Amino acid sequence: MTAGVDPPLSLAELPPERWPKHIAIIMDGNGRWAERRGLPRMQGHQRGVSSVRAVTEEAARLGHIQALTLYCLSSENWKRPQEELDFLMQMLARYMIDERPTITQNNIRVSMLGRRCGLPDDVLAEVDKTIELSSANTGMRLNLAINYGGRAELTDAMTRIAEEVEAGDLAPDQINEQLIADRLTTAGIPDPDLLIRTAGELRISNFLLWQVSYSEIWVTDDCWPDFDEATLHRAIQDYARRERRYGGLNV
Ligand code: IPE
Ligand code: IPE
Ligand code: MG
Repeated sequence: MTAGVDPPLSLAELPPERWPKHIAIIMDGNGRWAERRGLPRMQGHQRGVSSVRAVTEEAARLGHIQALTLYCLSSENWKRPQEELDFLMQMLARYMIDERPTITQNNIRVSMLGRRCGLPDDVLAEVDKTIELSSANTGMRLNLAINYGGRAELTDAMTRIAEEVEAGDLAPDQINEQLIADRLTTAGIPDPDLLIRTAGELRISNFLLWQVSYSEIWVTDDCWPDFDEATLHRAIQDYARRERRYGGLNV
């Protein structure tokens, strides 16, 4: 591919099939953003919320993106200092409350991916209220991955399948890829076409392990608080030039 030398494609002229229908984002680098400015890490997280707002609104406005999945907290992030975790929990609850008008105005339907167990009740209550408030919305789906881990999700799916087999509701030879996908928290949502990671790290960090098998990966060195509408456009423009093969040949 010669994406580096070609001028960016105009989003206005992009044919519908060239748009990513589902974008997933590993929103990384809040801490580094703050540390580079001599600020406490918490300020990076705070600024990160502004990027979440801008990117969510823009993704909904663009009209072609059916789902946006944001990695907000991983199941491994509990290893962080309690002070940071307390701040993140408070911020999550606040975000759930503050974003309700934006979610309503943009016809966005919110869901949560991740284990509920381990999250404080007050945070879950605000998440649930926002999900409920948006449940009849028909526009873009906003999946918030909170206390999410790809391996945990697969483990939970396998437990469910084993229980169904044990109960006699399922025979082992009925287990296929579709059945497994239907037991994941992303059931019914097409796999991400485009996986974005900010802050330059070249790893998946336990995000959507099953679902990203054929996602196109786009990494920027920008930290998440610096990610804005223009960065999202760049990612989509680059994606639109990718040739997706799914193991086959393009002839
Ligand atoms: C991403 O930013 C936000 C969360 C994981 C909650 P980080 O907090 O991981 O920022 P860095 O990677 O330390 O810069
Ligand atoms: C991934 O970022 C998790 C989220 C963005 C929520 P991390 O900062 O936790 O990832 P690692 O530890 O660098 O792999
Ligand atoms: Mg990080």
